[in-house]
Amino acid sequence: MTINEYKIIQAYLNQACGIVLNDNKQYLVKNRLGNLLPKFDLASFSELATAIQSNSTLSSKVKVAVVDAMTTNETFWFRDDMQFLELKEKIFPDIFAKKTGTIKVWSAACSSGQEPYTISMCAEDAAKKSSKHQNVQIIGTDISETILQEAKSATYSELALSRGLDSQTKSQMFQKTHDGYKLNANIVRKVRFQQFNLLKPFSVLGRFNIIFCRNVLIYFSDEVKRDILSRMADSLEPGGFLFLSSTEAMPPSIKTLEPVRGGRARYFKKIA
Ligand SMILES: C[S@@+](CC[C@H](N)C(=O)[O-])C[C@H]1O[C@@H](n2cnc3c(N)ncnc32)[C@H](O)[C@@H]1O
Repeated sequence: MTINEYKIIQAYLNQACGIVLNDNKQYLVKNRLGNLLPKFDLASFSELATAIQSNSTLSSKVKVAVVDAMTTNETFWFRDDMQFLELKEKIFPDIFAKKTGTIKVWSAACSSGQEPYTISMCAEDAAKKSSKHQNVQIIGTDISETILQEAKSATYSELALSRGLDSQTKSQMFQKTHDGYKLNANIVRKVRFQQFNLLKPFSVLGRFNIIFCRNVLIYFSDEVKRDILSRMADSLEPGGFLFLSSTEAMPPSIKTLEPVRGGRARYFKKIA
């Protein structure tokens, strides 16, 4: 791969999905995009770069596949488990007690679905302990249609289940099928999925009481990160909550989201 071909791929990824690739990531790009060459009948990275720059039907398929191949879909159940303990034992019970009407949660960049389904499990658990009937709607979005197909199937391998679930939850929440383990309908029912690029306006999604935006902003520039978080703050109802992963920081320029103190996990509240 020549430097020029690398620069074309680098610029495309930045413009299409916000991902910033440093100048020293040629090996990663070669590794991840190498498989696309035979798949699309391309003879070289030069032909791949040409496809990225053109507007044919084939080239749009190549571009989708490039984003799919270059995004990292790592995820697991109850990732940052203290955040989910706080959600189940504090946030949902408080909202259930105060709010009437549907409670809306957004899992932005949800990958194969473990995050929104974990949120759904927490909602189910909190609802069982609440005297009020509560309707919780969770939307999981991701840029990758391919990974969303996995999320929608709600069927996971034994290995995927072993990452973050205890044996009791596994046996209570999943049914063995011919192609894996299917999550129970009462958990799946609360979640819907939609392909969505975080670089696009959020207004089509509506407003939320809780947003999870974890382990995706790390791939973006500081400017894009600030822009996304500022628009997420605008998409939250007053008093709503935002979760980043425990290792991600809130840029100081975002004044409408303040850290919640005294909880078991770090998260942010929209100032009313
Ligand atoms: C590492 S996973 C995080 C999954 C989950 N949030 C978690 O913390 O376990 C990052 C996800 O971000 C998605 N992604 C990357 N760029 C995106 C963008 N511009 N818009 C929406 N999703 C994006 C990827 O497809 C990938 O599934």
